[in-house]
Amino acid sequence: MYSFIRKGIFSLEPETAHDLSIKTLGLAKFAPIRTLLKQLFACPQGTPKTVMGIEFKNPIGLAAGADKNGEAIDGFGAMGFGFIEVGTVTPLAQDGNAKPRQFRLVEAEGIINRNGFNNYGIDHLIENVKNARYNGVIGINIGKNKVTPLEKGKDDYIFCLNKAYNYAGYITVNISSPNTPDLRQLQYGDYFDDLLQSIKARQAVLAEQYNKYVPIAVKIAPDLTEAELVQIADTLVRHKMDGVIATNTTISRDNVTHLKNAEQQGGLSGKPLQHKSTEIIKRLHLELKGQIPIIGSGGIDGIQNAQEKIQAGAELLQVYSGLIYHGPRLVKELVQGIK
Ligand SMILES: Cc1cc2nc3c(=O)[nH]c(=O)nc-3n(C[C@H](O)[C@H](O)[C@H](O)COP(=O)(O)O)c2cc1C
Repeated sequence: MYSFIRKGIFSLEPETAHDLSIKTLGLAKFAPIRTLLKQLFACPQGTPKTVMGIEFKNPIGLAAGADKNGEAIDGFGAMGFGFIEVGTVTPLAQDGNAKPRQFRLVEAEGIINRNGFNNYGIDHLIENVKNARYNGVIGINIGKNKVTPLEKGKDDYIFCLNKAYNYAGYITVNISSPNTPDLRQLQYGDYFDDLLQSIKARQAVLAEQYNKYVPIAVKIAPDLTEAELVQIADTLVRHKMDGVIATNTTISRDNVTHLKNAEQQGGLSGKPLQHKSTEIIKRLHLELKGQIPIIGSGGIDGIQNAQEKIQAGAELLQVYSGLIYHGPRLVKELVQGIK
């Protein structure tokens, strides 16, 4: 059935198709539609897993960027996801880059996006999170506004952390999007050290204030040298971060240069990213030695490569592009198959 729907979706410009899907799934805020969607998707509950100190009803999550403003949490929830990561959200609403900014690489089952954190701002997102009926874990992925200079980037993360803390199952610090100028500089050296130190200090204050500990994960890029990866792992351990998401989209165009849209600027996701992100997970796992749980993301489109990511060291998995190419049955397949 999805192959039929996909034809219709793919006849639309990618972002138009995305907005339409979010509007449709957003209707799940109405109980009868929620029930209908749950019946339609017919996803089992799956196998629970405790990671970062929280219980996930199953280890399959929706990756950030699909529901940037938390408008369709109940719709994605009806598909059977064990967790849903909303955002990336910034302190202030921003438009993002000029359209078109999303492109399909159909033959390779890839997507290039250069959205640039288009979102309605943290206050709007929190209202949507508060109103959601979804009973799984909601992660809130935070970033910085484009107008905020890199040296002040930390302030944007702390601002969002303060606002999100009481409403999130966990929080993700996104410093790996290729679409906000210089953002990925925050993954290195003193910027990284300083950012994590401030975030951990703030987490301790908020934990006291709300009398609960909300774990914080860091999302990293796949385009790292060996030395950068080692340094990142060391810094994550030193600051006792609660989790790491590997990986975001890639700026590499290996194996896709011959394809239509491959020349578009932005981050590439989907199947072309599959192997690269698994390799990063493997390498990261060796370096972290189980001290920090890894959430695997990048090109998951079936049980086999989902298992590969788990074997590489991931404890939870996230999908986005695979959902676009294979539809909600991918969630069911993964929830059923991953123990
Ligand atoms: C259109 C699009 C928008 C995205 N936006 C975000 C975002 O706002 N924040 C983020 O952390 N990751 C974002 N991502 C990256 C995904 O969360 C994910 O890490 C990446 O796409 C790899 O997974 P996939 O191959 O299953 O899509 C986006 C991906 C796509 C395709």
